[in-house]
Amino acid sequence: MDFSERIFCGELTQEHLRREALLCGWVDAYRDHGGLLFIHLRDRSGIVQIVFSPEYAPAEVCRNAASLRAEYCVAVRGEVRKRLPGTENPHIETGSLEVFVSELTVLGEAEPLPFAISEKAMLAGASSGGAEQVNEELRMQHRYLDIRRSVMQRNLALRGRIFQCVREFLDSRGFVEVETPILTMSTPEGARDYLVPSRVHPQSFYALPQSPQLFKQLLMIGGLERYFQLARCFRDEDLRPNRQPEFTQLDIEASFIDEEFLYELIEELTARMFALGGIALPRPFPRMTYAEAMDATGTDRPDLRFGLRMVDATDIFAATSYGIFRQIRERGGIVKGINIQGQSEKLSKNVLQNEYAREIAPSFGAKGMTWMRVEGGKLESNIVQFFSAAEQEALKDRFRLADGDVLIMVADPSPAVANSVLGQLRLHLADRLGLIPPDVFCPVWVTDFPLFEPTDDGGVTSSHHPFTAPDRADFDPADVAELLSLRSRAYDLVINGEELGGGSIRINDRRVQRRIFAALGLSEEEVREKFGFFLRAFDFGAPPHGGLALGMDRVVAMILKTPSIREVIAFPKNRSAACPLTGAPAPVKEKQLAELGLLNLGGRDVLPGDAAKESRLDRLSWVSRIGIAEGERPLLEAAIARAAELAVRAGELAGPEEPIRSPAPPSRRIRPGREARRSPLAVDGRLLGNAPAVKGDYFKVAAILE
Ligand code: AMO
Repeated sequence: MDFSERIFCGELTQEHLRREALLCGWVDAYRDHGGLLFIHLRDRSGIVQIVFSPEYAPAEVCRNAASLRAEYCVAVRGEVRKRLPGTENPHIETGSLEVFVSELTVLGEAEPLPFAISEKAMLAGASSGGAEQVNEELRMQHRYLDIRRSVMQRNLALRGRIFQCVREFLDSRGFVEVETPILTMSTPEGARDYLVPSRVHPQSFYALPQSPQLFKQLLMIGGLERYFQLARCFRDEDLRPNRQPEFTQLDIEASFIDEEFLYELIEELTARMFALGGIALPRPFPRMTYAEAMDATGTDRPDLRFGLRMVDATDIFAATSYGIFRQIRERGGIVKGINIQGQSEKLSKNVLQNEYAREIAPSFGAKGMTWMRVEGGKLESNIVQFFSAAEQEALKDRFRLADGDVLIMVADPSPAVANSVLGQLRLHLADRLGLIPPDVFCPVWVTDFPLFEPTDDGGVTSSHHPFTAPDRADFDPADVAELLSLRSRAYDLVINGEELGGGSIRINDRRVQRRIFAALGLSEEEVREKFGFFLRAFDFGAPPHGGLALGMDRVVAMILKTPSIREVIAFPKNRSAACPLTGAPAPVKEKQLAELGLLNLGGRDVLPGDAAKESRLDRLSWVSRIGIAEGERPLLEAAIARAAELAVRAGELAGPEEPIRSPAPPSRRIRPGREARRSPLAVDGRLLGNAPAVKGDYFKVAAILE
């Protein structure tokens, strides 16, 4: 077959009418009209109807066609014709045409499918199928079939176009694409590393990169000035719909630049990428400091598609007689609220009290939630009588309350808890009340993050990573309070409440970098061991530099409006970081572990029985811990040979089935109850009276066998 003549199904047009066409693809759907067979033939470009008619096709072709089933891979040759008026199908691109087949070649047969792939109805107006409802695990297990669906084809094609757009744009701005190592040293980004053992260096490990952070900075010291990479990153962390253990970053770094350079670059690039999905992003992107974002939305990932801004009301209750608020104020806490304008009809007293105050707010970590509805110019609620007239007036004023509005308030001794709870209530209410407009995209730069966060043990940890420049360099690394007051020159790009990317201007002064490590509590030795190679590079004229990384899976998923980033990754991992298609991660043979020096960490790696491997009898003796006297050898050799013979015969009799090696997976079974209680029988020795050897309350048994 000469495939060079092939025409794509979806590209057939009126121009091809009355001409011969060679089409290749898969049987999407078929319909038999008593001898007349209609098939939807699908390839990457789309679908066309092909017709097997006894009047046109040789009898043998019609016979073969009758055996076609969904997802057979075929090539057909035939004449392109116009469909009869009234039989056109508006649901497919080529709905006014059909191809009368004269030749059919089956290129690949298909078994019955685990789920339907066809998404286009054959009959105009009939409902189309679709695998959206199919269990995702099943889709992933047969991902190659899932990818045949037009939705997945579209997702992957747009992902490819977006990546292409990135390359073209950054090339036009003088950025060089460079690949950095995958087998490398740990890069601190806050997650656990995936480790890869080295065979050549037993018991030493490479770490897969959490990001190319260290290398891109070294490229700047290397004088490359403008770098980018569509980099695969690996993080062993808890998964969510927008997180994968391996994901793709657009990683960027540039020298002799400041924040404004990056804002302009990324805004232009992001606008171009979103335009590929038909989305026009408003520019310039607004900016909010971290403090402003936390204050107004309770999160550093503000969703600005709707109002519901949070407002502080702590001062209003300076001398309140409402006990709860007074105590919280006295403990340094805050009172904050949101005016949910014009929603009192949807938020009845019952909903506010029984759902939000009793259930939802506590589930977000609140100790309580106060609510008030505004009716006839007055505040109404179950506790309004505890507030003075002046306090009520001040609330009306502060929150600009009008009839039909609902005010909710959260008070907590911890400002962080109050912000977080109210922020989550904000999102919950927006969703419930339908306040999130569809197809609206609100980008925002979040800036001025705290450089450090406090740790439980009274120290600090980097909010971002330890290479982020502080807003000032004259800090004392031992003064925790001062460290916590430092801001960083970091920025996150957030759209619709999702963090799409983040980056910072870096430290390029080696003394400042050393002080940051000191602030993090790393000893000189630890720093040398972990980052010695990196810090050394700063001894040779490091230029000022900065950069950012965009999570490309998130970018593509947002442009395509998919519910999870798994929909825009060809072969994603499932929620438990496994691949249902390949079965990864999987156990490996002990031999492999031994080769890698992983059997006996800290000692010599010898497979059990290794020493006695040469002789089957010695091996058995080793495994069973039974010594053999020289005189017994011939007898035992003969017995083993006989057993081996029987095993072969048993195998032959059993047929092709795999023998069951382990009928039940070993697992730790723990009895109910919290504490181990000593049996009274153990106390007087009756429990283990007959045991050959005893240690404490336990039987002593022989060492675990292989
Ligand atoms: P950060 O850790 O913020 O920064 O990562 C940048 C972006 O990568 C995406 N991302 C993820 N996407 C999918 N699955 C994950 N598990 C995952 N983790 C992160 C997010 C995030 O905003 N080296 C720095 C960048 C820099 O400073 O230049 C870094 O990696 O969209």
